[in-house]
Amino acid sequence: MSQCQLTKFSGGYPLDKFIIEGGVRLKGVVEISGAKNAALPILAATLLTDEKSVIKNVPPLRDVYTMLRILRNMGVRADMEDGVCVVHPNGYNNYIAPYKLVSTMRASVCVLGPLLAKLKHAEVSMPGGCVIGPRPIDLHIKGLKALGADLKVEHGYIIADAKNLTGGRVYLGGKFGSSVLATANVMMAATLARGKTVIENAACEPEVCDLADFLVKMGAKIKGQRTPILEIEGVKSLHGVEYSIINDRIEAGTFMVASAITGGDVLIKGANIEHLGAVIDKLKDVGVKITSTKDGIRVVKTGFIKPVDVTTLSYPGFPTDMQAQMMALMCITKGISVITEKIYPERFMHISELARMGAHIILEGSSAIVKGVSKLSAAPVMASDLRASAGLVLAALVAKGKTEISRIYHLDRGYHNIEEKLEKLGVKIKREKED
Ligand code: EPZ
Repeated sequence: MSQCQLTKFSGGYPLDKFIIEGGVRLKGVVEISGAKNAALPILAATLLTDEKSVIKNVPPLRDVYTMLRILRNMGVRADMEDGVCVVHPNGYNNYIAPYKLVSTMRASVCVLGPLLAKLKHAEVSMPGGCVIGPRPIDLHIKGLKALGADLKVEHGYIIADAKNLTGGRVYLGGKFGSSVLATANVMMAATLARGKTVIENAACEPEVCDLADFLVKMGAKIKGQRTPILEIEGVKSLHGVEYSIINDRIEAGTFMVASAITGGDVLIKGANIEHLGAVIDKLKDVGVKITSTKDGIRVVKTGFIKPVDVTTLSYPGFPTDMQAQMMALMCITKGISVITEKIYPERFMHISELARMGAHIILEGSSAIVKGVSKLSAAPVMASDLRASAGLVLAALVAKGKTEISRIYHLDRGYHNIEEKLEKLGVKIKREKED
């Protein structure tokens, strides 16, 4: 485990485990935190100006701390207190994002675009693969080259140079559709390029739109947000801003499934119905009652859980980051569901762990065939990646007995204070040190 992972971060130490006693119907109100996947590129975007920025509603998660360490490593003053990040980039001059930090968080690659635009040079460690599958960066490279940058890979680092970035037109779709962080990188670099950039097949995820809104507030000229065609007119410079990021739609979706799987009644405060269309649509097919209130989304489940088929797609399609959570729910239906992963075809590490709890799942290529069972049973299981861990927590909520989930540092990457939030909803959950 790298040094980075051995240091304490929000939520506990890496060698923690959860003990969850199943059988409780979740009831009450849970408040959603800020979106990790909006915070990371927005923190990277602060590199585009010499002026101070203040970013609010930032979740105190390990990945956010890693991004702050990457910024500090470049000579940026970056601090976080009570969910507010204050970033002073003035005069930073180190253009390196080192392997020891990037290897613990693939998303670090999103400093590439801002560094190129501001310092005209960048040396960013290749993100490498992870348990959900390979994490290629060919679209990042293609997009930045379209702006006139020179990029090569040497000794595991992307070495990028751009004497003068000039606007260009680039199609950023890959065989798995659009790319969230490649869109982020190219959009950020284009804000300071000379002339106009058009990105075709841009990612439309809410987190990409939040980044675009942040850049516009900094003085960038961007059109086409929320559509697959982004137009960016380069400007001379950008200024520091005060900004509050959106709430985390994946955390909200996870708690929606938690209410559904336990037959509960939960108000998910701060959930934005506009960000969860595909998830809401699927949960309604499952038989969940979903109502939008002024505070958030209320999720009530009574009666049987109906089996549904799910295919993950780029936004506004069903999010890949909700696939494991949906699979946990489909484990206890009275029928058969097919879950097809079109974004990360290998993102199925949770299947073997769910099987240890009595689930019947057969993997055929990038489709999982889930044959519902009447009940799951508690078992010792191991978290493997962020969203797989969330799926195991959901399964543990309904498994008979006490489930032990080890290596929950994966969960601490994307869910702030999940045990407190679950406890408030009635769940019997304990965090302990792994023996
Ligand atoms: C972002 O990752 C998210 N991470 C991921 O969330 C999320 O699963 C993913 O988007 C898809 O929605 C952050 O925002 C920090 P992509 P990103 O580039 O941008 C392929 C979580 O759980 N691809 O949109 O790295 C890629 O292999 C994390 O919070 C290329 O082929 O994902 C994948 O199949 C996990 N070439 C597909 O595109 C490239 O150059 C979508 O990936 C880049 C990506």
